[in-house]
Amino acid sequence: MEVIVQKTYDEMSKGGAQLIAQTLNAKPNAVLGMATGSTPLGVYKELVRMHKNEGLDFSQVTTFNLDEYVGLPVTHDQSYHYFMHENFFKHVNISHQNIYIPSGTTGNYKAFCDWYEKRIEECGGIDVQILGIGTDGHIAFNEPTSSLSSRTRLKTLAKMTIDDNARFFEKREDVPIYAITMGVGTILEARKLILLANGKGKAQAVKEMVEGPVTSMITASALQLHPSAKVFIDHDAASLLEMKDYYEWIQQKKPGAPQV
Ligand code: PGA
Repeated sequence: MEVIVQKTYDEMSKGGAQLIAQTLNAKPNAVLGMATGSTPLGVYKELVRMHKNEGLDFSQVTTFNLDEYVGLPVTHDQSYHYFMHENFFKHVNISHQNIYIPSGTTGNYKAFCDWYEKRIEECGGIDVQILGIGTDGHIAFNEPTSSLSSRTRLKTLAKMTIDDNARFFEKREDVPIYAITMGVGTILEARKLILLANGKGKAQAVKEMVEGPVTSMITASALQLHPSAKVFIDHDAASLLEMKDYYEWIQQKKPGAPQV
């Protein structure tokens, strides 16, 4: 796992966007894994800027989102369909038939989840997956004790996640209790992972993800098993890391390292 500590949220977002742009330049028909929540908004803003000012092209890109709330229609302003459209898709030249987001309103969740996994495979697998982290250490909606080899499925959200996300809804009771989410196993199959975290509220989860044991209690700790995971964090999110100086040292010394 490569830990990249940045001074500000903006720098962290630019770092993440840069990596995605590099992937698209090398492979214009890349498959991107998308995340929602407040953390990746800066990455989307930067990618939209690159599209508008630098011609970053999304015309051949395919996307798969990590998760969606169960029960919210796609027009609901808190559905992840709506979020992605408003914050990213409507601002870039992506082809709408190449956008995949789990359905929160299907009549058959099991069949939908199996189909979603199959579509990822048929599209060649995910090249780069963007991730946030929950205060309970989740990735996507893989709450504590989710199997580290889990696949796309229906999950019951943890109370902590419901509390965290209540800020986006009028009242706590409006937050959906169930979600459909890619599994930890699904996520680990992406060729590259980029996890972003900012703010003091994420410091404990970040510490456990990077320096704690691999455990289903902190599903983000499964990133330790991935061969190409980059973690972009700001100073607040890095504040509890014991080895912070070492991560900064590695980044400082990287330009002089022999080319591999
Ligand atoms: P946030 O959510 O970006 O809104 O903090 C992250 C997550 O729960 O994965």
